[in-house]
Amino acid sequence: MPPRTRAQWRLLIKGGKVVNDDLSVMADVYVEDGVVQQVGPNLNPEPSTGLVVLDATNKLVIPGGIDTHTHMEFPFMGSRSKDDFYTGTKVKQEMESLVQNKGVNSFKMFMAYKDIYMVNDEELYEAFSCCKELGAVAQVHAENGELIAQGAKKMLAMGITGPEGHELCRPEEVEAEATQRAITIANAVNCPLYVVHVMSKSSAKVISNARREGKVVYGEPIAASLGTDGTNYWNKDWAHAAAYVMGPPLRPDPSTPGFLMNLLANDDLSVTGTDNCTFDICQKALGKDDFTKIPNGVNGVEDRMSVIWEKGVHSGKMDENRFVAVTSTNAAKIFNLYPKKGRIAVGSDADIVIWDPKATRTISAKTHHQANNFNIFEGMVCHGVPVVTVSRGKVVYEGGVFNVTAGEGKYVSRPPFPPYVYKRVRQREQVCQPVSVKRAPYTGTVSGTAVTRK
Ligand code: URP
Ligand code: ZN
Ligand code: ZN
Repeated sequence: MPPRTRAQWRLLIKGGKVVNDDLSVMADVYVEDGVVQQVGPNLNPEPSTGLVVLDATNKLVIPGGIDTHTHMEFPFMGSRSKDDFYTGTKVKQEMESLVQNKGVNSFKMFMAYKDIYMVNDEELYEAFSCCKELGAVAQVHAENGELIAQGAKKMLAMGITGPEGHELCRPEEVEAEATQRAITIANAVNCPLYVVHVMSKSSAKVISNARREGKVVYGEPIAASLGTDGTNYWNKDWAHAAAYVMGPPLRPDPSTPGFLMNLLANDDLSVTGTDNCTFDICQKALGKDDFTKIPNGVNGVEDRMSVIWEKGVHSGKMDENRFVAVTSTNAAKIFNLYPKKGRIAVGSDADIVIWDPKATRTISAKTHHQANNFNIFEGMVCHGVPVVTVSRGKVVYEGGVFNVTAGEGKYVSRPPFPPYVYKRVRQREQVCQPVSVKRAPYTGTVSGTAVTRK
């Protein structure tokens, strides 16, 4: 029999607990044409030869995870691109075209990587203003690139050339300072801000405080910062230590992952990604004599859900609904994909995982499916295992077997002005404009020379 097309898949997921971010219910799920058609008890669709029945007894039925932050085939730390004012302006036009014609609704600005990607405060102000005008979400890689450049020189001059130098030249306050600066600039133009890869307690506290002050800011810890720590940079095995090099770095304070998880559970932090950007050990070895040349990036895309279940739910910090919120729903809301994505409900895309919360697996590079030869979560025993994965109505993974071909993924256009983010911004725009004080003109003497502004 030829393989069925996506439209030919009909699925009945029976006997599971359907978990959304706001509630859990015992229900069956019926899927046709890649879309959820029915959610309810004891569903009994007309049997046909095409109907696939999946038993979800004692399992959770959750929305497919949304990884907010990945890099695939990313040319990085080998290429150099310097910008000038002309190309800066051109980029502004490109942003407009990307939002209006290509379904892009977020842009990442780098405050680090001096002489490569780093933008200064004036450029950040411009970019945030542009995002705000277009209805996009501004994202920042928040680290002070100037301080990193100086710190790196200092470490190398002291003879510190190994991976520990990577963390020592950019300690927590370098991340926290940039986070605070980005929040201040974004707030000045009333632009929503999304801080990618939150790696430190200090930066997380800055975000949490800003949210308490009513600023529209979201923080994204990643599987790496929630699942492991920067003590690895001091490992005696160079290759091991180098495998953890990413920016901002993992922090040597081993209580960092637990702290970030607490904030994620409490909605101080909002959503999780991975920043998956894998380089194998031979590529990392470009920096064998100089840590500044080690390509930055770690794995995560395969293990994020299990790491967050283990450290978040199995540890008792969050419930199953918050797990769904931080692995799927909040991302869909922030990036304007909701409720097509991020929810199991009638009319939503059938991106579904049957999740066994009791099963365990041990993460290892020997058994993972990623292309690199190291796993930063090596040896971690995780409760919470995906049993079946459904993508737009098709079973793409079941019991260890994949049923996918390259190129099956579908680009999803994201309209601007996500209401979850922008309703507050617009409300403020309407009611919080400063007004000038009405007063009689000054008629006294004026002395000195008025400064002429450029
Ligand atoms: O080290 C990292 N994070 N690599 C990927 C590029 C980035 O900054 O996100
Ligand atoms: Zn980054
Ligand atoms: Zn990244």
